[in-house]
Amino acid sequence: MSLSQFIVLFVVVCQSYSVEILNDKEKFLYFGYGSNLLEKRIHINNPTATFFSPAKLSGYRLDFNIFSEYWNGAAATIVEDSDSHVWGALWTLHIADMSSLDKQEGVDTNFYYPKNVTVVTPSGHVYIARTYIETINPPKVPSNEIPPERQPSDTYMQVIIIGALESSLPTEYINFLRTFSTNGKLGSQSIRQSLGYPFNVS
Ligand SMILES: *[C@@H]1O[C@H](CO)[C@@H](O)[C@H](O)[C@H]1NC(C)=O
Repeated sequence: MSLSQFIVLFVVVCQSYSVEILNDKEKFLYFGYGSNLLEKRIHINNPTATFFSPAKLSGYRLDFNIFSEYWNGAAATIVEDSDSHVWGALWTLHIADMSSLDKQEGVDTNFYYPKNVTVVTPSGHVYIARTYIETINPPKVPSNEIPPERQPSDTYMQVIIIGALESSLPTEYINFLRTFSTNGKLGSQSIRQSLGYPFNVS
């Protein structure tokens, strides 16, 4: 290996392993992979959330498990899975909003628990972000064979897909999102009202 090749390799290795931190100590990064891909949805409870970047989480798969009355179907979760990855939206939130986010995710009712995960942006920047995982992991099945009691509602899946488009997630991942079976139901009137259902998607 020549010196210049070595330098290129060295730079590439450093870039892929150095975790970057936000300059602003008043803020934290949040990785949303479900309905919080959609700005209008995250702003219902967390008005200061600011979109930062799409990001990829390796070693986890997207799945659906615990029933949510709000969505009228199973809510999204991520499960450790070495063969998989999950795309999501990185948001910056003010530290003071961590409690509103925790409340939305039902940390107090044992729906989700918070976890720091390492994510990578499309340009190769590595960040540690807070995310939420359901307290009960579902078993692995193909996305189009999720049993009825674990299927997301039509409204919820629409919000996730519109949010994925809005957050500029890769097209092949958005196509994967479309493969999940849904339960044919609308979300609660409360969420439909908050989001202005029916959604006008171009
Ligand atoms: C994530 O990391 C931050 C900074 O080190 C720490 O304050 C926080 O408690 C961690 N959160 C979780 C859920 O582990």
